[in-house]
Amino acid sequence: MLPIDPAKKNSFQNTICDGDLVIVYERHDVMKAVKVCDGLELQNRFDVFKHSDWIGKPFGSRVLSNKGGFVYLLAPTPELWTLVLSHRTQILYIADISFVISYLEIIPGCVVLESGTGSGSLTTSLARAVAPTGHVYTFDFHEQRVASAREDFGRIGLSSFVTVDIRDIQGEGFPDEFCGTADSVFLDLPQPWLAIPSAGNMLKQDGILCSFSPCIEQVQRSCESLKTHFTDIRTFEVLLRTYEVREGRMNCGGDNEGASVGSRPSKRRLPCSSAGSNGKETKGGSVMARPCGETRGHTGYLTFARLKCL
Ligand SMILES: C[S@@+](CC[C@H](N)C(=O)[O-])C[C@H]1O[C@@H](n2cnc3c(N)ncnc32)[C@H](O)[C@@H]1O
Repeated sequence: MLPIDPAKKNSFQNTICDGDLVIVYERHDVMKAVKVCDGLELQNRFDVFKHSDWIGKPFGSRVLSNKGGFVYLLAPTPELWTLVLSHRTQILYIADISFVISYLEIIPGCVVLESGTGSGSLTTSLARAVAPTGHVYTFDFHEQRVASAREDFGRIGLSSFVTVDIRDIQGEGFPDEFCGTADSVFLDLPQPWLAIPSAGNMLKQDGILCSFSPCIEQVQRSCESLKTHFTDIRTFEVLLRTYEVREGRMNCGGDNEGASVGSRPSKRRLPCSSAGSNGKETKGGSVMARPCGETRGHTGYLTFARLKCL
């Protein structure tokens, strides 16, 4: 998906301009965010790339260096931004983020309150989900994190959809001006139960709250606090398992006995008999699927609850 053009809230920006942020993609695990600046060059381990060659090209273009090396210039979507942003805190990753957006039923036009902002990983996805007519108000008590997040939202063109402010949400709650205005509230705080009563006051009737906590003890205390004003209280843990799928030659000799989960797929072949369930036979080979070594384990628990109707 292309970035939203901040100058024209309802349209997408197609071409790369001087001053834009692009994600320079070498491989799925080698990417970096670069601000395009006429006159500057990018040097990677293969080559030197002139920024001036990038200006006017559509996002997604493959650009060449003088020596024939290439990189892709991708739009700074929330999905890619989450992978390249500088980690000032623990962050939410795409599996939790997508679950949060779906279960909070966030659509364009929604008003969402969030705390803490942290590195802004979730905030960027929230902002894109509410655009072009909704808004995210996000709060963190850490001054420097707020300043850095504000700068990042500007760099990726989301400033019109996010307001970030300094506030101790556990101590003071959300500002009174948001009372009864929020479609959803998201909390990623060390003691979320302290902010839950205020979050309840901010929600519209039928509004939904989500709290992310790494420890089950935090979940237990939050659920206790939620019982008073919330219903449909549910906790989930999202575990993501990535598979590598590739074509290879079948080997029925079983030379892969003992191969551990996480080793390279070329070290392990599916036995012929199981090709039907995990793999499809192809001419002279088969399609093999196995879990990648980099499978991410526990990140945290997501507790959702809906405000009780009066
Ligand atoms: C784990 S980070 C949030 C990460 C964020 N969800 C992301 O995806 O990038 C938690 C944040 O909560 C903030 N925080 C902790 N206590 C707070 C409080 N009482 N009021 C506001 N923010 C607070 C911290 O400063 C920190 O930035």
